[in-house]
Amino acid sequence: MDRESSQLIRGLEGVVAAPTQLCDLDGTHGRLAYRGYDITDLARHASFEEVAHLLWHGDLPTGGELDRTTVALIAARDIPRELVETFRLTPKDTDPMRALQTAVAILGMRDPDATDNSHAANLRKAVRLTSQIATAICAHHRVRSGQSPIPAAPDLGHAANFLYMLTGRRPSTVTAKAFDASLTLYAEHELNASTFTTRVIVSTQSDMHSAVAGGVGALKGPLHGGAGEAVMRTLMEIGEVAHVDAFAERALAEKRRLMGFGHRVYKAGDPRAAILRGMAEEACRQSGQFKWYEMAVKLHARINAAKGLIPNVDFYSAPLFYSLGIPVDLFTPVIAAGRIAGWTANILEQHDDNRLIRPRGEYVGPKRRAFVSVDKRA
Ligand code: ACO
Repeated sequence: MDRESSQLIRGLEGVVAAPTQLCDLDGTHGRLAYRGYDITDLARHASFEEVAHLLWHGDLPTGGELDRTTVALIAARDIPRELVETFRLTPKDTDPMRALQTAVAILGMRDPDATDNSHAANLRKAVRLTSQIATAICAHHRVRSGQSPIPAAPDLGHAANFLYMLTGRRPSTVTAKAFDASLTLYAEHELNASTFTTRVIVSTQSDMHSAVAGGVGALKGPLHGGAGEAVMRTLMEIGEVAHVDAFAERALAEKRRLMGFGHRVYKAGDPRAAILRGMAEEACRQSGQFKWYEMAVKLHARINAAKGLIPNVDFYSAPLFYSLGIPVDLFTPVIAAGRIAGWTANILEQHDDNRLIRPRGEYVGPKRRAFVSVDKRA
């Protein structure tokens, strides 16, 4: 590309950067499918383990395949003792996403396939990282709260075990299913910023752990996965259903960027938000904290009417996660615990058909200037 033909597309909006068989995202009609399966069917009827298998292998598993994937995930749940020691040595107020990024780097130091980028090794690492990330998030939370990590329960599925390792209590079937469906809804979303980051990193023939550590860093920002935490803080700032209108008026007048609203690709509606809304309603009612749902619905209606903005995936997941008892600063790590399935599937796809991702910048600085030695500069 020479200077004359350069075409700047800020934020790469609308740019198609890679072929993918993973995610079919129809932003115009608000539809989303993983490998051809509609997200609503997957969230309702499939477990996260089935969805991860689908993303990694291309098809929904048979009963025998699901057993093997489930057993492999359970067998991979332990994390190295040095990692727990690292959590003990880090400041108690360390941001959990920073701790998670460190954890992924340390897991890479101990992974037997760390530098092997073959398809088979990448599949093994995808399974290990999916399980170990869940364990690491919970262990870090326990350690920073002055408690010991809870060993995984081998009889619990991935989602239920996560909640168990976090709280020490076995979740009800309804709670476990809601959390499982949330992980599925977050599992994959085409070339979002964090997934694109993982693809850029492995396109240099770097390895899966390096890419996932980068993905965690990209997910952390409030314009991406960090929005869910910000939504909950907004709802807490509002405090009561009766205060929603006054808050909305003020926020609109101040032209505030409202977290959990808007999307680069979905313009008519984010299908994940519609599913999460129903789940949030149920969970908030069950937990006796219905006001968070009511506030969210009222804010949604008010902002949508005023600005036409749609709620994205992070809007209704906030009251849902809160009513499931997840600490607010763990909302983004929880998203990472779901998105790891998609990150690793994208890494597999990129490594299997790689071309270095290297866009251009459009130079807008000063024209070529004559060099002046330091003693002659004014
Ligand atoms: N609050 C207020 N105004 C908004 C919002 C919002 N949440 N989102 C978009 N707008 C407005 C902008 O002010 C802008 O208006 P203007 O044209 O009058 O200046 C217009 O809509 C376009 O906004 P952009 O930021 O250019 O749109 P973009 O496609 O780049 O943004 C994004 C998408 C970053 C998600 C944006 O909607 C946003 O900041 N939302 C809040 C953060 C958030 O919820 N992120 C989570 C996304 S989902 C996920 O990553 C898991």
